[in-house]
Amino acid sequence: MNNIIKYSLFFLTLLFISCAQHDKSNNNQEQIEKNIDALIRKMTLEEKLGQMNQITSYLNIEDLSNLIKKGETGSILNETDPVRINALQRVAMEESRLGIPILFARDVIHGFKTIFPIPLGQAASFNPLLVETGARISAIEASSVGIKWTFAPMIDISRDPRWGRIAEGFGEDTYLTSVMGAASIKGYQGDSLNGRTSIAACAKHFVGYGAVEGGRDYNSTHLSERLLRNVFLPPFEAAVQAGVATFMTSFNDNDGIPSTGNRFILEDILRKEWGFKGFVVSDWASVSEMITHGFAADDADAAMKAINAGVDMEMVSGTYIKEAKQLVGANKVKESTIDNAVRDILRIKYMLGLFDNPYVETNQPNTFYANNHLASAKQAAIESAILLKNDQQTLPIKSNIKTIAIVGPMANAPYEQLGTWIFDGEKEYTQTPLKAIKKLVGNEVQIIYEPGLAYSRDNNSTTITPAVTAASKADLILAFVGEESILSGEAHCLADLDLQGKQSELISALKNTGKPLVTIVMAGRPLTIEKEIEQSDAVLYCFHPGTMGGPAIADLLWGKEVPSGKTPMTFPKKVGQIPAYYSHNNTGRPANRSETLLHNIPIEAGQTSLGCTSFYLDAGFDPLYPFGYGLSYTTFQYGEPTLSSTQLKENDVLTVRVELQNTGNYDATEVVQLYVQDKVGSTTRPVKELKRFMRVPLKAGEKRYVSFELPIKELAFWNIDMKYKVEPGEFNLWVAPDSQSGTPIMFKVVS
Ligand code: GLC
Repeated sequence: MNNIIKYSLFFLTLLFISCAQHDKSNNNQEQIEKNIDALIRKMTLEEKLGQMNQITSYLNIEDLSNLIKKGETGSILNETDPVRINALQRVAMEESRLGIPILFARDVIHGFKTIFPIPLGQAASFNPLLVETGARISAIEASSVGIKWTFAPMIDISRDPRWGRIAEGFGEDTYLTSVMGAASIKGYQGDSLNGRTSIAACAKHFVGYGAVEGGRDYNSTHLSERLLRNVFLPPFEAAVQAGVATFMTSFNDNDGIPSTGNRFILEDILRKEWGFKGFVVSDWASVSEMITHGFAADDADAAMKAINAGVDMEMVSGTYIKEAKQLVGANKVKESTIDNAVRDILRIKYMLGLFDNPYVETNQPNTFYANNHLASAKQAAIESAILLKNDQQTLPIKSNIKTIAIVGPMANAPYEQLGTWIFDGEKEYTQTPLKAIKKLVGNEVQIIYEPGLAYSRDNNSTTITPAVTAASKADLILAFVGEESILSGEAHCLADLDLQGKQSELISALKNTGKPLVTIVMAGRPLTIEKEIEQSDAVLYCFHPGTMGGPAIADLLWGKEVPSGKTPMTFPKKVGQIPAYYSHNNTGRPANRSETLLHNIPIEAGQTSLGCTSFYLDAGFDPLYPFGYGLSYTTFQYGEPTLSSTQLKENDVLTVRVELQNTGNYDATEVVQLYVQDKVGSTTRPVKELKRFMRVPLKAGEKRYVSFELPIKELAFWNIDMKYKVEPGEFNLWVAPDSQSGTPIMFKVVS
């Protein structure tokens, strides 16, 4: 048989298999829809409403079992005991009338037992595979106790570090958040939702929650449809494209409409425009909170507005199970609407395989804190760390350093280091910097440990003296400062982002010893630490790095690893600069950095003498650090980017190539960033927007070409006519190490 026939048969076989698989999955889907229809035909209205009612677990398993037996709930959150989960599931499968499995849920935001850096820290890695791996490991650990649904990823864009939940998301940038959100979903849900370790992900909080006025949680937002569509919605559309199983509504009212009652976003955009087929859950009590918003008169009104807006499942406020039967009877809610909601919920339960495999195997090997999980968490902490400053190459620590003072309230704070949203992580497993450094250096280096302050808010400055004394005896000081974990996360907003307590005094006192001072920051957000940075010779920003933060930081400080993190959001100099973000509009009078600042203003200066541009007299315009910024122990040199063409049409793909060289002495990784500016649009456009990024490892001295493919279609935006269009004209393009560097090159899009 000659080769042609052989290869033809081979490819025909491949084609048959793939079609068969495609048919199989389609047949599976068709069968699922048939099963759902058959089940819904059997269900009473009460049983349908039961599926739409999520409750939070509580101790009395008898009461929980009775609710399940009566078909009054279809999902339980915050139950993590596999024995209880199986017992409750058995009641659902064997004692309820229709045997519909319960969907058990838990917030697994950046780890279940093995805790990864907070998502804002993971975003600093600019490494989607790292984020996917973290979510995969979280799913393996969580599913091992019976959790089959998590309320993550949080993909709210935010430009306001006063907002405590900034810690939970991936920062200020639409493209970075879109990529990281999709990676998380892939990690949680695995290759198939019915995988043994797969758990349903949840794109939250839909939508605009990160823009709460004043950075104060639960506050109103005022986002135009155009801003929603160009900045806040794309990560959620990317989540739908990534196959996310569920969505969660947000607490905020945008333009006067609470998301939980907003049919435009839940029906018109999410389902009609994007084709979402999963189900939507309300955020905690946000259905009944529409009464407090003043958007609903009472529980019945709230239930009616949420159901008719497209909220399929109500989390904990219990208005559906209480009011919806009467609403249907009064024709205020159609039973077909209820059926659609139940259909969406049952679809995910079928796709998770819960009807066939409702129980968790309690005899499976314990995966908690497995070595490979800890190794991944350490790698995530390494890549999440950002080197903000490194004068005189203070870092990495040299071999002539024989005595080190380790000070600060975050040096040995196992609980605080884990960060916000940790329900199941255990501080006992945290490896702190103090322990890790002692283990790393052994007898090579003398470590003197004096915390100086007991915790980040500690105002007892009397304990600073011993720390200063220790520092005076050392060759180098490592100061670990930042925030206790409780100071960020839900409802934990700050009006002042300076270091808490007497930490700033501690840094000043350490600086006054004249010893080299390395400051390591663990926090849930960017902090306004300009003064402390000036006083430090080197600064490593680690956010809250999770279980393995200690070994990661130790390896970074001693050069076993080289920092590669980049700021996932702008670091303001002062709170007053907020919102400060790189992808701002130019305005008619952009700052030119030659304005006269406060300390240089002449007495009796004339009204228009200081510069009539968009800046602050007391803070100028520039932030402390721009988006995408981070140093390395080495240096990188960027060549002049070359474009495949400087004149392109909408259906073209622009190829951008740039030569990158590691011009220093350390093997290291650079995060190369590609930004584009639409110079003139039917509406004003941002001065630049991130469109691609890539982590590029290079050995010392090595150089290579880096190439990006950018379809011109991706330059589309929601324009003056509220149409998603690429508008012909001139564009600037940068390939750079951060959002403020580089020289633009121009290309044209022609119609
Ligand atoms: C909270 C949060 C949400 C979380 C949910 C369940 O209030 O807003 O992000 O998933 O309740 O814990």
